Amino acid sequence: MRDFILASLATALFARSAEAVAANPLPKPTEITWGSESPLSVGSLTLNGVDSQIVQDGFDRAFEAIKELKWVPKATEAPIRSFEPFPTATAASRKKSRKRQYDTGTNSTASLSTVNCQVKDTSAALQHGVDESYTLEISKNSSSIEITAETVYGALHAFTTLQQIVISDGSGKLIVEAPVSIKDAPLYPVRGIMIDSGRNYLSKKKIFEQLDGMALSKLNVLHWHMVDAQSWPVELETYPDMTEDAYSLNEIYSKDILQEIISYAAARGVRIIPEIDMPGHASSGWKQVDESILACIDSWWSNDNWPTHTAVEPNPGQLDILNNKTYEVTGKVYKELAGIFPDNWFHIGGDELHMNCYNFSSLAREFFAQNHTMGDLYQVWVDRAIPNFQKQANKTFVMWDDVILSADAAATGEVPKDIVIQAWNNGITNINNATALGHRVIVSSSDFMYLDCGYGGWVGNDQRYDVQANPDAAAGTPNFNYGGNGGSWCAPYKTWQRIYDYDFTAGLSDEQKKLVVGSIAPLWSEQVDDVVLSQKLWPRAAALAELVWSGNRDENGNKRTNELTQRILNFREYLVASGVSAAPLMPKYCLQHPHECDLNLNQTILWTNAVAVLRVRRALDLHRVALCVDDDSSGGVAVAQGRGANDVEVSAGGGRDADVVGFGGLVHDVGPGVVHEVVRGEGVGRRCRDWLLEEAVGKGEVDSEKKL
Ligand SMILES: *[C@@H]1O[C@H](CO)[C@@H](O)[C@H](O)[C@H]1NC(C)=O
Ligand SMILES: *[C@@H]1O[C@H](CO)[C@@H](O)[C@H](O)[C@H]1NC(C)=O
Ligand SMILES: *[C@@H]1O[C@H](CO)[C@@H](O)[C@H](O)[C@H]1NC(C)=O
Ligand SMILES: *[C@@H]1O[C@H](CO)[C@@H](O)[C@H](O)[C@H]1NC(C)=O
Ligand SMILES: *[C@@H]1O[C@H](CO)[C@@H](O)[C@H](O)[C@H]1NC(C)=O
Ligand SMILES: *[C@@H]1O[C@H](CO)[C@@H](O)[C@H](O)[C@H]1NC(C)=O
Ligand SMILES: *[C@@H]1O[C@H](CO)[C@@H](O)[C@H](O)[C@H]1NC(C)=O
Ligand SMILES: *[C@@H]1O[C@H](CO)[C@@H](O)[C@H](O)[C@H]1NC(C)=O
Repeated sequence: MRDFILASLATALFARSAEAVAANPLPKPTEITWGSESPLSVGSLTLNGVDSQIVQDGFDRAFEAIKELKWVPKATEAPIRSFEPFPTATAASRKKSRKRQYDTGTNSTASLSTVNCQVKDTSAALQHGVDESYTLEISKNSSSIEITAETVYGALHAFTTLQQIVISDGSGKLIVEAPVSIKDAPLYPVRGIMIDSGRNYLSKKKIFEQLDGMALSKLNVLHWHMVDAQSWPVELETYPDMTEDAYSLNEIYSKDILQEIISYAAARGVRIIPEIDMPGHASSGWKQVDESILACIDSWWSNDNWPTHTAVEPNPGQLDILNNKTYEVTGKVYKELAGIFPDNWFHIGGDELHMNCYNFSSLAREFFAQNHTMGDLYQVWVDRAIPNFQKQANKTFVMWDDVILSADAAATGEVPKDIVIQAWNNGITNINNATALGHRVIVSSSDFMYLDCGYGGWVGNDQRYDVQANPDAAAGTPNFNYGGNGGSWCAPYKTWQRIYDYDFTAGLSDEQKKLVVGSIAPLWSEQVDDVVLSQKLWPRAAALAELVWSGNRDENGNKRTNELTQRILNFREYLVASGVSAAPLMPKYCLQHPHECDLNLNQTILWTNAVAVLRVRRALDLHRVALCVDDDSSGGVAVAQGRGANDVEVSAGGGRDADVVGFGGLVHDVGPGVVHEVVRGEGVGRRCRDWLLEEAVGKGEVDSEKKL
């Protein structure tokens, strides 16, 4: 009992002092404990202990940034202030005068001068699964900062954390709040963004800028969609003519430029997974080698007459799966690039195959005439291309989810289970399906992670914009231009909150969860080039970065999106100061007035949605509320609301869910994979109850006798 009281007292103290700590690094470390001593001043820091150029360079960059920026946090966390109450008939309001609170100067007791860094394995390669953990410790009254890491990549993360917690006291003097103890490691090994240099060229300089932002937010994978039907900017020795289809001589990635980008990324702990999209999205470049390996490149893309459409965007083109030469050419292109990019993973595309395109190929027409489907044809590609690639260089292949899950084109036979599936369609459903099939999955759900959505359409000659008023205004029906998607197929725009709130493993079994390797946010570039690249990626990519580094919940399992607000506002300012042109998220007023720009005054309103498995323990303790996952994807969910401390009440809704059949309350349709809250005991559906019990017993939280 005594221990318990002491422990909770300590937590309370730390919690209070943590609020006073201005530095709020992003992504939030897995474990960070601030003490309550006064800050230490930071002098000229030298690095001890590691013989590694990568580590030394990473440290030099971090310390240079510390000295250059003399960062004064621009948005600090604070409890929301009290507001003047709304006047009532009986009580007139009374104005309270307010003064802005500025941090007062601090007195440091000691000065930090060394960073002792220990790296266990300085030769670990930057590949999938490399250990990125680190610890960072500053004791009170110490003259040194202690860092440990398993690999150099963990050490690099330690430096970017250090860079964000050493701040200026406002008078130019560098300080760090001490003591501080950080123990940190990512939740997922794949944390990234996707850039697209096929639709528009992206310069080396701008790519460096993205890599800077990635390093600062601990993102470790740059998925590079290098080419597309529109252009081929990649110079290859095997087929030098391919860059005839680059936009200009200045818009080419020479081998030297590729090497520079790869090195720049590696020095910052960022892997590059190159993508050559095949067999769809293929025209430019390939056609310089041999037009016969392509189908429909001279066709009208035909979205105006959908039955004959050959592509979902201009210009059309797909590699001819039944032409033998296709395998010679794709094999050589892959081989050369597999040699240039050191990563063991390679993305071979595989999205959006359209049967109509193959109506332009005599070989495919013959194949279809033998009663074969588009899926059968896709299977031919899988069966021939993958072993062919493996023969050239045995890497792990990543493919878009179409290959196994497209409704009209998925390969109809075996797809090797070691192919990593990038799930972009149907949110959690496809993550669920792909992991159920045993594939590892990268989460790129377009409903949450596509950063190009919501900017309107880009194709010209579009009469749908020529509508002067909502024709269905009276009925309140959305129209293309009025409450509709405005021409962006994946509208609306994905805000940082939407990205961060995405519970992408909800409803998956533990076995399936293990197959989710992380998430990548794509930015397709039909409307992106150097000019807007950084604004569209940042700071939203930082919301993803924290989601996959330390998650979106606090230690009690509650959604902490509200807590991210000041952190991401500050981080955006930090990105800009570091040369990454991130877009503003709010008026600057909001940075300086914590939570005054919140939608809800209630600071814990998000907690009601925080119905995580994590809370099972608490739920069982309450002996009132039970949680259970919608495991049949029927989309039903019982919405429970608190009524008094331990009581729950089920709110009204529509539909009924098999899991909670027999349950007295009404249920509410909010989509698959969502977690239910249901009243314990009477009325709880059988499957739900069994699942709960199994989970709880499995976790040792209740014994099997204690039946619900
Ligand atoms: C800092 O030093 C001043 C003057 O010595 C003292 O008045 C003040 O209390 C000190 N502040 C803290 C936070 O220790
Ligand atoms: C901190 O360091 C100073 C100077 O070295 C010393 O006088 C003081 O006793 C130390 N305080 C603690 C708590 O170790
Ligand atoms: C394309 O070819 C297939 C197979 O011959 C045929 O069934 C289909 O109708 C053709 N598509 C169109 C739009 O004519
Ligand atoms: C394509 O290659 C296969 C074997 O790989 C061979 O059987 C077939 O005859 C070739 N087709 C043509 C048109 O050359
Ligand atoms: C084509 O396939 C369908 C469905 O598998 C089958 O019912 C039909 O008999 C087949 N036709 C021919 C000509 O093989
Ligand atoms: C490729 O590598 C994997 C894993 O190292 C191995 O299991 C497989 O047999 C290799 N495939 C080929 C074609 O060499
Ligand atoms: C995906 O899984 C759901 C059930 O979870 C199932 O109804 C659906 O058929 C699956 N889709 C595919 C393409 O496997
Ligand atoms: C804030 O919202 C939570 C969740 O709905 C609720 O439990 C709590 O009572 C609310 N607090 C206040 C002060 O209204």
